[in-house]
Amino acid sequence: MRLDKYISNATDLSRTDVKKLIKARQVSVDDKIASSGAQKIISEQVVAIEGSPIKLAGKRYFMLNKPAGVVSAAKDHLNPTALELIYEHRSEQLQIAGRLDIDTTGLLLITDDGQWNHRLTSPRSDCKKIYALELENPVGADYATRLSAGIVLEGERRRCRPATMQVIDDYHIHLSISEGKYHQVKRMMATLGNEVVSLHRFQVGDIVLDQGLAPGDYRPLTAAEIASIL
Ligand code: URA
Repeated sequence: MRLDKYISNATDLSRTDVKKLIKARQVSVDDKIASSGAQKIISEQVVAIEGSPIKLAGKRYFMLNKPAGVVSAAKDHLNPTALELIYEHRSEQLQIAGRLDIDTTGLLLITDDGQWNHRLTSPRSDCKKIYALELENPVGADYATRLSAGIVLEGERRRCRPATMQVIDDYHIHLSISEGKYHQVKRMMATLGNEVVSLHRFQVGDIVLDQGLAPGDYRPLTAAEIASIL
């Protein structure tokens, strides 16, 4: 990687600031003053600014307990966004892996690892997402069979992948799906003649929402959680 790109990726400095630092002879590579931002850096080399070594951070992975009223986006002119809740350097590099509707709460995964994000969200991925639903009307006796046969959503020709359901009580279920179509859960329930009153995602693959996270809080994923998305 070019020296100027390396420094701006590792710090919050702009390319212009980096240029100025190099010109002021304040950047060194392996203890030699650097003279050009175009110099190529390999991983073993030590880059320092005013004598203090800097390091490229690794990829970052977080889980956020998304509150209602927050949009799954980086910027929005009307509502607060999920990325505004993540107080990290270089937050503009973070992306949301699998959006939730504004009124849906719960587990939102956020990363700057594009490949990991793709593995999680690609239509070919079989990653299960589990939601807790409160319903407007009682759970129908035919739901489990219809969900496992694959629901045909209004306006679509293809069946959804089979879904599974656990009944909690007459008005509450846990629903596991392995796709991420637009408003999928709400549309599935509409097809079954019901309506979602509240929707909360608590699991994606093997990653379970940390009970210790209050709405709006986030934490880094553990190494095991990151590795669980294959
Ligand atoms: N399905 C929905 O309808 N909404 C969500 O936020 C997630 C899944």
